Amino acid sequence: MFALRAGAVMVAAMVSTMAAQAGEVEVLHYWTSGGEAKAAKALQATLQAKGHSWKDFAVAGGGGDSATTVLKSRVVSGNAPAAAQIKGPSIQEWAQEGVLADISDVAAANNWDKLLPPVVANVMKYKGKYVAVPVNVHRVNWLWANPEAFKKAGAKVPTNWDEFFAAADKLKAAGIIPVAHGGQNWQDFTTFESVALGVGGADFYKKALVQLDQGSLKSDTMKKVLTTFKRIKGYTDKNAPGRDWNLATAMVIRGEAGMQLMGDWAKGEFIAAGKKPGTDFVCAAAPGTAKSFTFNIDSFALFKIKNEANVKAQKDLAAAILAPEFQEVFNLNKGSIPVRLGADMSKFDDCAKLSSKDFVDTAKSGSLVPSVAHGMAVSSAAEGAIKDAVSNFWNSDKQTVEDAMAKIASAAKTK
Ligand code: GAL
Repeated sequence: MFALRAGAVMVAAMVSTMAAQAGEVEVLHYWTSGGEAKAAKALQATLQAKGHSWKDFAVAGGGGDSATTVLKSRVVSGNAPAAAQIKGPSIQEWAQEGVLADISDVAAANNWDKLLPPVVANVMKYKGKYVAVPVNVHRVNWLWANPEAFKKAGAKVPTNWDEFFAAADKLKAAGIIPVAHGGQNWQDFTTFESVALGVGGADFYKKALVQLDQGSLKSDTMKKVLTTFKRIKGYTDKNAPGRDWNLATAMVIRGEAGMQLMGDWAKGEFIAAGKKPGTDFVCAAAPGTAKSFTFNIDSFALFKIKNEANVKAQKDLAAAILAPEFQEVFNLNKGSIPVRLGADMSKFDDCAKLSSKDFVDTAKSGSLVPSVAHGMAVSSAAEGAIKDAVSNFWNSDKQTVEDAMAKIASAAKTK
């Protein structure tokens, strides 16, 4: 009897300790589309499995501009979340403000320097200290196609821009919207960067859109890029302006449209709709970019918070994010690939396997480039200014290629 009572006391003590150690992590993110929300749920479940609670703070708006605006106002008013979806060079910008927590202890305990490609680890560090944790590797330079629509139109999935416009003409003739597009500045910019890579190549892309070299930004190659970019607009539909990216993907899923240029978060939508790669949809490199890879790495930066149990929960979340189990379930839903080196890809589809192989090959060949449209390449100020200049050109009926080139070159000087 005494032993039982002692046992019960111990269990009670353990439960209260666990309850006492359980923390809460408020996570600010912008994953609200079908596939994105499923992936975010996997992250929530992972945290809850560690006995902590997840406070969801989702801000709708693909590309994340609205989320960043909301985050800024929360931090300024002294109400930062525990974790927020922040990526690329802007991690440095936030760290400079002194608001991010140092999670080097978690990184050391889990060998992050060995697990992560250096190109990724460096982005997550500020002055050598980890302040953010990467979640995945998205490839941006993809084309998604509906094979049924292509068959109906007698068209071939393109590998270069000439073939792209030939296919677009055939789709149009068959009464199918050739290109599903969402008219929002970040989507216009996502299309633009794939055209720049496909028309100019990786070296031109790096000089013009990463180093922001004025000569390259005002070159004949840029003229060709802008001409090709604007020509695509003629193959989108009149309802494109303002459309969310996942609604454009849905048009391809339904066969209303033949193709979409978008990062592989679009694949998350096909998968969430129960569609099979190779049969219901085709993933192909954006025209002319098969030998290159535009990377976009989602990450969570962790903010300085006081509550000890929540700090523990924050660190448990960071450690869980890079664990093999989470890397697999999250990326299977999200459409991206694991960021961990040597991840087991056996459960992933052929699109992911191609992405994983190309990520490694292009790192060796020098044609692995950061996505400028998704915050991987330049300061958020320069990115914002160039994005608007590119989108203004897409939306204007009057602006000439020369005008646009001058506007983009001057936007690139924004500090
Ligand atoms: C990107 C983000 C992706 C995806 C996409 C659409 O910026 O990195 O994870 O969410 O926006 O919202």
